[in-house]
Amino acid sequence: MNEHPTVGTPGGQRPWGLPPSLASTVQRYFHYQVAVETGTYKGTSTRLLRELVGRVYTIESNLALYENARRALASDPDVQVFLGSSPAVLPSILNSLNSCALFWLDAHWFPEIPAADDSQCPLLEELSILACWPFIGDSCVLIDDARMFSRPLEECYRAGYWPALHEVIAASRFTPSTVSAIVDDVIVVGPSTLTLAFSDYSKPTGAQSVVWNNVQK
Ligand SMILES: C[S@@+](CC[C@H](N)C(=O)[O-])C[C@H]1O[C@@H](n2cnc3c(N)ncnc32)[C@H](O)[C@@H]1O
Repeated sequence: MNEHPTVGTPGGQRPWGLPPSLASTVQRYFHYQVAVETGTYKGTSTRLLRELVGRVYTIESNLALYENARRALASDPDVQVFLGSSPAVLPSILNSLNSCALFWLDAHWFPEIPAADDSQCPLLEELSILACWPFIGDSCVLIDDARMFSRPLEECYRAGYWPALHEVIAASRFTPSTVSAIVDDVIVVGPSTLTLAFSDYSKPTGAQSVVWNNVQK
């Protein structure tokens, strides 16, 4: 399985993309057959999801990045790369699915790519589309960059585009039993049984114990 690559930031190196141990913990428990990613970029997490889940739909709004990713992934019939903004493309992908899925929401602008015209972070729109999808209750949604929703942003980011953490948690409460937690800079959302999948997560990874929101006693 892929190692978790890192990227340089002003604060030092931080892991890039979907953490493999987190994704495989979810997948070991739920056995999804389809993954949907928003924000393909260079396809790093697309490849990991392909390896873990089997079939991947990924959406990229930047034309040059889309073309590169499509070329790089063209030989794999189980990966489909879509061009467009995620809120516009997501509904047609969801309409084509007939069971739950694993989502990796990562269509988040960062300074190395051309400035976004519309939004730097379409997350709330993505979540409101997912909330109406009939299979969302059994799906897991992993949202990258948790830190971006809970701290002051650097100047290059337009604060109005980035929702606050409480707005993200509220928008991802898909059913009364949906739970959420922050693990390794990822907001993890899913059915209440997700808590069991993570019961021994901190042991092999050395991460802090996972604290879940909305766990019914
Ligand atoms: C942080 S990168 C994604 C990294 C990738 N998911 C990974 O884990 O390796 C964000 C990507 O989202 C794309 N993006 C930004 N806004 C988008 C939108 N509204 N719809 C689809 N993609 C978008 C950017 O062009 C960029 O390629």
